[in-house]
Amino acid sequence: MTRTGRIEALEDYHRYCAGGLTDPYPLFHRLRSEDPVHWCEPLNGWLVTRHDDVLAGLRDPRLASDRISLSMNAMPEPLRTQMCPLGNHVSNWLGFTDPPKHTRMRALIMKVFTPRLAEEMSPRIAEIATGLLDRALCGGEMDFMGGFAFPLPASVICEILGIPMDYQARFRRWAEDMLLFAGAVGPSIAKVAVPAHKSFVELTGYFRELTLQRRRDPRPDLLSALAAVEDEEGGLSEAELMGLSVFLFIAGHETTVSLLGNGLLALLNHPDELTRLRREPGLMASAVEEFLRYESPIQIATRRPIEDLAMREKRIRRGQTVVLMLGAANRDPERFPEPDRLDIGRPENKHTAFGWGSHFCLGAPLARIETQIALRLLLDRAPTIQRIGEAPQWRADNNLRSLRRLDINVS
Ligand code: HEM
Repeated sequence: MTRTGRIEALEDYHRYCAGGLTDPYPLFHRLRSEDPVHWCEPLNGWLVTRHDDVLAGLRDPRLASDRISLSMNAMPEPLRTQMCPLGNHVSNWLGFTDPPKHTRMRALIMKVFTPRLAEEMSPRIAEIATGLLDRALCGGEMDFMGGFAFPLPASVICEILGIPMDYQARFRRWAEDMLLFAGAVGPSIAKVAVPAHKSFVELTGYFRELTLQRRRDPRPDLLSALAAVEDEEGGLSEAELMGLSVFLFIAGHETTVSLLGNGLLALLNHPDELTRLRREPGLMASAVEEFLRYESPIQIATRRPIEDLAMREKRIRRGQTVVLMLGAANRDPERFPEPDRLDIGRPENKHTAFGWGSHFCLGAPLARIETQIALRLLLDRAPTIQRIGEAPQWRADNNLRSLRRLDINVS
């Protein structure tokens, strides 16, 4: 049997391809050591798992981010035609564009979405987190995901954009459905496309209305600033404005939710590291980097080669799907000694959880500050935190690594 054949004989391999592998890291180790650039038939794409290859892939201009065609082509007719409006919309998300469109749109958003914004938001983040904890701590028991990890980043991104928080349940469904669609690889996309289309229609309808209001009556928020840019020469088309604001809304919702849950779970599973963090609160920034590496919220970055190329002697054809496995790269023993060990003081933690290069995450400063503030407040106010109930459940999603629930007792 070939080396690749052995991997394909693994049950975990097929569970992973079906999107339901709770602990993917043993499989990632096998892939990385036995077939680091692996053709995956069920996902119809190349899985790249070594840290140096992933990094090189993120920097390689021959690997395009404009990849919605891969998703559209994975759907049968008539579904593909029905999903065209959704595909056109996602092709205007910043993370799905390439130069020169990407350069122009990124420059515009960087004018308004600056790293300083994160610093300026800090007092407000602490205020929102404190309010949520007041409620949670008086109950004693809580689902950390629903009671804290979701409402905190959701409130923060809504405030930045200038969106009233009165539609929370709908917001969550919209963000989840759209991210599932955008992150799907291969034929599994057909399963998530219809709910994503419904959410897309509702979400863009809502944003369109809000943008019109902000144009009539501008406020000191990001949506008003973007609406003003739309009108400038060389600014944004209506579709681009919608793509940018919806993408920020979704990126701001689900990713930090995941980081908060993954970080707390990692600490609860490693009581020595939790005690260490309580004793040395100065380690918080480094701990958050370790959570990002150890359980990366965004596990993959998908790319479309614009020409034939070679990677570790594998011939990759133009137009095939290339999946840069961020979560696997971040457990590469060649880059991170003892990669499966949580070490909140890990030196040299150059993870790829926020991507790399021209598409490096614009929300990284905000996500870092939010998580540091939120976990600091939680640890300060809850001297004991215990997991209760059933084992925490991961979402069935190979892109977003996030918990459904995390039941805890706080006192
Ligand atoms: C823990 C939280 C977060 C993680 C792990 C994360 C992860 C990522 C990753 C991996 C990419 C690169 C994708 C690629 O190269 O294909 C990215 C891009 C991006 N992220 Fe984040 N993100 C987080 C939070 C946020 C937040 C809070 C925002 C904004 C509110 C945000 C906005 C963006 C934007 C606009 C891009 C696209 C940049 C570009 O294409 O030029 N992210 N993020």
